[in-house]
Amino acid sequence: MFQPHSAEQLAALAVRAREQEVPLKVLGRGANVLVSDDGFDGVVVRLDHASFRRVERRGSQVDVGAGVDLMPFARACSALGLSGLECMAGIPSTIGGAIRMNAGGRSGEFGNVVKNVRVLRPEGDTETWSKERCGFGYRHCELGDNIVLSAQLELVEDDPAKVRLAFEESFAQKRDSQPLGDRSAGCIFKNPVGRSAGALIDQAGLKGAQWGAARVSERHANFIVARRGATASDVLHLIDLIRERVRSAFSTELEVEIDIWRPMGVRR
Ligand code: EPU
Repeated sequence: MFQPHSAEQLAALAVRAREQEVPLKVLGRGANVLVSDDGFDGVVVRLDHASFRRVERRGSQVDVGAGVDLMPFARACSALGLSGLECMAGIPSTIGGAIRMNAGGRSGEFGNVVKNVRVLRPEGDTETWSKERCGFGYRHCELGDNIVLSAQLELVEDDPAKVRLAFEESFAQKRDSQPLGDRSAGCIFKNPVGRSAGALIDQAGLKGAQWGAARVSERHANFIVARRGATASDVLHLIDLIRERVRSAFSTELEVEIDIWRPMGVRR
C-alpha cells in the first residue's frame, strides 16, 4: 500500500508499476470493492495525503481533490447552498471513486456536476479531461487506467436551507431503504434496463439468504451484508446463487456492479 505525498510521487510510482507490469489500483473508501481472500498482488494506492484533499471554491465552481471524502463534502456544499450533490448523501466514497464509478442513484449521478477532471496517465504525465471525454454512463466512465487527481465541479447556487433539506431528505430515504449501518460493498448488481435488481432479488425470495457469514440484506436485497467472520468467498458464493435464482425465475442476467480485486490468474 502506497500513500503518496504528491502527484509527482504518485507519477513516479505509476511509471515504475507500468515498467514492471505490476497492477495498480486506487482504493477510495472501499465502497464497491470486494477483495479476494487471496488478496491482490499489486500496488494499492490511497490518496489520503493533504495534497490530494484540497478544496477551493470560486462562486458556483468548486475544485476538489480526488482524496476528499464525498459525504462530508456533499453535505458542506449543500449547507453553503451549492446544489447538485444532494443525491450523494449516504455514499461512502472519495471524490475519485465517485468519478470512477459515476456514483449516484435514481435522482442523479456524480458525472452531472463534473466540468472537467485532472488525471495522471500511467505514463506519468497529467491531462485535463472534459466531462464529454470522460464519457459518463450508468456506473461507468471512460477513464481507463488514468488516475483521478482532482475535478472541477459546476454546482448551482441556491437557497442553503432548501439545498440542505434536500440533502438530508435524500440521506433519510437511503437510511430507510438501505443497510447503511452494516458492512457491505453497496449495491452488488447493476439494475437491468428499466428494472431494479433489488426488487428482482427480493421477488426471488432471497432476502435473508445466507452463505457463511454473508447475508442478503433484509432491508435492500441488492446489498450483501458481511457479518463478523465473513470471507470474500462467502460473498462470491451468494453472488452466484443470486444470479442463478434470478436467471431461472425471471430469465434475467444480473451484471455485477462491484469491482472484484483478485490476484492475477485467480478466478475467485
Ligand atoms: N425494492 C424491493 N426490494 C428490495 C429493494 C428494492 O422491492 O429489496 C424496490 C423498491 O421498493 C423500489 C424499487 O425496488 O420500488 C427500487 O428500489 P430503490 O429505490 O432502492 O432503488 P434501486 O434501483 O434498488 C438504485 C441504485 C442505488 C441508489 C438508489 C437510490 C443501482 C444498482 N442502485 O437502487 O445505488 O442508492 O437507487 O437512488 O443502480 C449502488 O449503486 O451501490 C447503490 C446503492
